[in-house]
Amino acid sequence: MKNIVILISGSGSNMAAIAQAARRDDWAGRHGARVAAVLSNRPQAAGLALARDLDLPTQVVDHQQHADREAFDAALARAIDAHQPWLVVLAGFMRILTPGFVQRYAGRLVNIHPSLLPAFPGLHTHRRAIEAGCRVHGATVHQVTAELDHGPILDQAVVPVLPGDTEASLADRVLTQEHLLYPRAIEALLRRKD
Ligand code: GAR
Repeated sequence: MKNIVILISGSGSNMAAIAQAARRDDWAGRHGARVAAVLSNRPQAAGLALARDLDLPTQVVDHQQHADREAFDAALARAIDAHQPWLVVLAGFMRILTPGFVQRYAGRLVNIHPSLLPAFPGLHTHRRAIEAGCRVHGATVHQVTAELDHGPILDQAVVPVLPGDTEASLADRVLTQEHLLYPRAIEALLRRKD
């Protein structure tokens, strides 16, 4: 079985979109794949309840309970490895990972970022896209490498920036597309590596 482990920090809507696509599109039957677990670095992440509602195993590895980044990443890796992951999926996971962690999962660690990379790595991407006068914006699924929000692009979704858009309205439009983009990008990986 190809185990997919999803890491979240917040609302978990991308995690839910992936888990629902996995069931709806029978990833188990067609690709021998399943979402094996949802891990959060924040005990209060709303996505944990969403994952439990979807009958997914959850676990918290609280970054505040660890002395430094290395100790946290080591504990996180232990929790991930307990599920023998084929793929580790960052879905709104808001922690910078150490190079050692990234290296450990090289080639099987993916992220979604709310911009058309290489434009706007980092935070506040929607506000920055509006301020820059972009006519289009979007989201990117990419392989994770040691450099933040870089790494080979797997797929992208483009949305228009409309006159009068606010940061919130643009974020909503992008997030709706993220929920289609992320499952599609993961299924493409499953197909490629079947
Ligand atoms: C998503 O928009 C995702 O692209 C972004 O956080 C949101 C998480 O929403 N990720 C990043 O900014 C990573 N740098 P979700 O928890 O509802 O999936």
